[in-house]
Amino acid sequence: MKTLDDQGGKISISSFRIEDYDRLISLWQDAGLPYKPKGRDRRDCIERELKTSAAIFLVAEREGKLIGSIFGTHDGRKGWINRLAVAPAQRTQGLGARLVREVEERLHDLGIEIIACLIENWNTVSMEAFQRMGYKRHGDIVYLSKRKNPDV
Ligand SMILES: CC(C)(COP(=O)(O)OP(=O)(O)OC[C@H]1O[C@@H](n2cnc3c(N)ncnc32)[C@H](O)[C@@H]1OP(=O)(O)O)[C@@H](O)C(=O)NCCC(=O)NCCS
Repeated sequence: MKTLDDQGGKISISSFRIEDYDRLISLWQDAGLPYKPKGRDRRDCIERELKTSAAIFLVAEREGKLIGSIFGTHDGRKGWINRLAVAPAQRTQGLGARLVREVEERLHDLGIEIIACLIENWNTVSMEAFQRMGYKRHGDIVYLSKRKNPDV
């Protein structure tokens, strides 16, 4: 667990534990983060994924309150950032960037040199934030996916 001091008190960053699933969902709902409650974000799906070596799932807490999350993963070639969320009252104070840096460092340690994320085109705040964190937007790439059902 890492802690950092800021003006609002100590923030700790630690690995996500499945016991905190309900608190995580509350954060995502407060944050307006799109997620898949009937698919890959179901408790059992996250619990299964947490057991894989590629899961770098982190949460940030301040005074016992869960205020941030990030799910880092990799497929051996690329790293991926998912489910980055910061509680509305805690935004624009550097926490989102801190969580991203933490995942980047861990992925770099594993030899992963390219890290990517997928952002809905309406999510201009996130788009701006990632670009400010050094991520390049690719206007020439279109995301295609094949799903067993629409909920996954
Ligand atoms: C995107 C999000 C995680 C950013 O978290 P945050 O803690 O506010 O981000 P930070 O304070 O670390 O800011 C990182 C950079 O983004 C910029 N940024 C953050 N919010 C911004 C906004 N609303 N408009 C413009 N720039 C913004 C910051 O200025 C900073 O850049 P700088 O260092 O050059 O100043 C947060 O807005 C959020 O939870 N959004 C809802 C959930 C979501 O959409 N997640 C992303 C899914 S892909």
